[in-house]
Amino acid sequence: MRWFGDVAGLGAWWREVRRDGATIALVPTMGYLHAGHGALMEEARRRADRVVVSIFVNPTQFGPSEDIDRYPRDLDRDRALCLARGVDAVFAPSVGEIYPSGFATTVEVAGLTSGLCGASRPGHFRGVTTVVARLFGIVRPDVAVFGEKDFQQLAVIRRMVRDLAIPLEVVGARTVREPDGLALSSRNVYLDADERARAPCIFRSLESADRAWRDGERDPARLVSLARETLESGAPVDVDYVEVVDAEDLTPLQAPALRPALLALAVRFGATRLIDNRVLGRP
Ligand code: PAF
Repeated sequence: MRWFGDVAGLGAWWREVRRDGATIALVPTMGYLHAGHGALMEEARRRADRVVVSIFVNPTQFGPSEDIDRYPRDLDRDRALCLARGVDAVFAPSVGEIYPSGFATTVEVAGLTSGLCGASRPGHFRGVTTVVARLFGIVRPDVAVFGEKDFQQLAVIRRMVRDLAIPLEVVGARTVREPDGLALSSRNVYLDADERARAPCIFRSLESADRAWRDGERDPARLVSLARETLESGAPVDVDYVEVVDAEDLTPLQAPALRPALLALAVRFGATRLIDNRVLGRP
């Protein structure tokens, strides 16, 4: 496995790979890798001849009140996980390599970024699309794989790729969960024992709305209250949002849903904000 910290090194490797006529899949990450990232790497492996994982804790997607220095990091563990998954190259640049002096461009997708996480984290998606566009420019992959846990991020990146005619395929991979349903996330490490014990209420809440949907419930307000009741049925939970939106354009659904609907939520356990979602009725 090759390890690159600079754009030039990765570029030389890219030319070798292309000379061999091989295709490339990119898995963009912020590191502190877990089995959920492992599943993205496996999906990438199915889609291309070479797999590149990028590891970069992107400062521009953190708000002023969000502590980037607290974001967990462990490059030795990340290296071991990438090796075990047969990754071909890791790109782990410094901030200066991604945002060199004079960097002046931002990429922003309008509309899709205004609700859900975009409402409570202003500027977050601008940071994501800017760094992902730059990673696409550096790695020039044929395929890029993102997790569906960040459903809004996936939708925003798909739209950016479509609107800017970036020549690659964006693939979404299913969320990987703990046995009790908690979605794997690097942020789970922040939960104390009590918060960790309470966190599966998120999954139970998605399940209850999904069951209701399968039983024929299509009223978004009722689906939301059911999800909220389940969330709050144990100890009180600090809910950021629970919404039912159109699964394609993420607009809030008011009338009974006729199109595929997404239940998306964000909750806080202490200082830790967790997100999750479910496309209702999807097998
Ligand atoms: O999902 C993430 O880990 C990040 O938002 C991403 C896509 C790597 C961009 O920094």
